[in-house]
Amino acid sequence: MTAAVNQLAQLDRELETILTSFDTNYTWNYGSVKEGLRDLYERAKRDQWNSTTQLAWGTHVEPESEIIPSVVNPLAGYAPFEKLDAKERAHFRHAQISFQLSQFLHGEQGALLVASQLVGGVPWIDAKYYAGSQTMDEARHVEVFSRYLHQKLEWEWPINPQLKELLDATLKDSRWDFKYLGMQIMIEGLAMAAFGNLYQLCKEPLLKELLLYVMKDESRHVAFGVVSLDGHYADMPANELRDREDFIIYAAELMRNRLVGSEIARAFGWNENEVRDLVLESPVGKMFRSMLFQRVVPNLKRLGLLTPRVRDAFAKLDILRFENDDPDKQDRELGFA
Ligand SMILES: [Fe+2]
Ligand SMILES: [Fe+2]
Repeated sequence: MTAAVNQLAQLDRELETILTSFDTNYTWNYGSVKEGLRDLYERAKRDQWNSTTQLAWGTHVEPESEIIPSVVNPLAGYAPFEKLDAKERAHFRHAQISFQLSQFLHGEQGALLVASQLVGGVPWIDAKYYAGSQTMDEARHVEVFSRYLHQKLEWEWPINPQLKELLDATLKDSRWDFKYLGMQIMIEGLAMAAFGNLYQLCKEPLLKELLLYVMKDESRHVAFGVVSLDGHYADMPANELRDREDFIIYAAELMRNRLVGSEIARAFGWNENEVRDLVLESPVGKMFRSMLFQRVVPNLKRLGLLTPRVRDAFAKLDILRFENDDPDKQDRELGFA
């Protein structure tokens, strides 16, 4: 009896409730009204996969091994890091990879919640079909990252506060196009770059395979956002467009300034400010944090959202230089397109 009560109290502590309110649309038009969405939905159905049978879960993973190469470390040269002995370095590697995958896990849960909101919010039946399929995809992504973290790495970190803030803002906004902007364009655009980067570096076969499957789904999700929002902003009144600009700038600043090693510094008893300055200045850290935007920026341009205000803010963040990049290059290279 006491054990059961304790378990319930524990579940309560692990639950966080937020209030969301958004317009939910029935549509009585069952035809295809937005070009490209039905094709995406057909691809989504064709490419469903079962993570339980598709991935080699029997693979032995050594959590402290070089799952990603040790050379990719923005703290190289930092005295407290350099003082670590071999055993402590192995522990540091374990912390780094489990922190990164924990953020993927929590981001995937956010995507699951947003995709489910889109089923109700979007105005076209094909978009509802697609959002339904994305909801299934995201459930699978939460499942695979959770399983990898718990069974293989055995170390889960809490969500990064800036990522949580953007997820909350996306979930709470009542307008359906903000949900696409926050999730499909911004977070999933960033995630595709982060997954791609990790995929290139990863030396552990199970994680590599897992990432490839997840990326294939994510590339469709980003396309869902781009196709759905295509033309949406063309005739929007200036005051409404301004709200979108504000949201994009807010989200980009939040995401640009988040990965500064605070969580790792705290876990290792290092000075947070020193670590932040180092990460902000190190070539590896700089490259990684701007590279994450290489798909987001050209996609915003496609949608007509790279307005003078947004351009100005992006120039300050040093991410405007991606505006003419090809947002689908990575997909073609990986054979997704
Ligand atoms: Fe996902
Ligand atoms: Fe996704």
